[in-house]
Amino acid sequence: MAALKPLIAGNWKMFGRQADLSEIPVLAERVGEAAKSIDVLICPPAPMLAIAAWRAKDTPLLIGAQDCSAAALDSPRTGDVSAAMLADAGARYVIVGHSERRTIFGETDALVRAKAEAALTAGLTPIVCVGETQGERTAGRVEEVICRQVGESIPQTRGPLVIAYEPVWCIGGAATPTPSQITQVHSFIRETLAGRGGDTRILYGGSVNPGNAGEIFGAPGVDGALVGRASLKADDFSAIILAHPAAS
Ligand code: 13P
Repeated sequence: MAALKPLIAGNWKMFGRQADLSEIPVLAERVGEAAKSIDVLICPPAPMLAIAAWRAKDTPLLIGAQDCSAAALDSPRTGDVSAAMLADAGARYVIVGHSERRTIFGETDALVRAKAEAALTAGLTPIVCVGETQGERTAGRVEEVICRQVGESIPQTRGPLVIAYEPVWCIGGAATPTPSQITQVHSFIRETLAGRGGDTRILYGGSVNPGNAGEIFGAPGVDGALVGRASLKADDFSAIILAHPAAS
């Protein structure tokens, strides 16, 4: 299979203010050349999306959202934000099923799938997150959990799709799996997708930083990364992007 264009995405989670969007032009300046061969995406909190998209205009950087409503049509849903509204604000991608949403907000595979479907309807590319907890890994249940999450969370409608493998035990701490553990899960996800477009990119996420990015990008089957903390500042995020072999 031909190599897929890498995607390196920053998930700002519930951090930042409008003033922090000044990181966008700085990042564009640093990674402009690399962004021709790597899709570089920033997913700020929803209230900053339109301004982020405006700041990214005329740069190769892409803007995405962190969640969307499962309802595709405009409807009376106080507090919800539809995928169509995100697209209207300038988003091209939307993260769905992040483990923080699955855990804190009790999102089920079925809900994540509905959100991914709504994203496709609005012309957005869903980034569907999957990953096991420490307990599930210790119990030898990684494949069972990943198989269920992939099988039941990804959209049934064919369309552009990204999957992010984010082991829950690696998010927000310091631990990362070994490159061979990452490759093992990515290959398993690829097998689980069998028959579905080989153009689905599989990202790794969980404590990616400038120090470990090169090793992670070197692991076979890794098509990019979903970065949390280290995506907030152009200094660290640009160092991660420039560590990708496709950047040079
Ligand atoms: P950290 O990179 O801060 O560990 O977060 C990973 C993550 O959850 C990205 O979606």
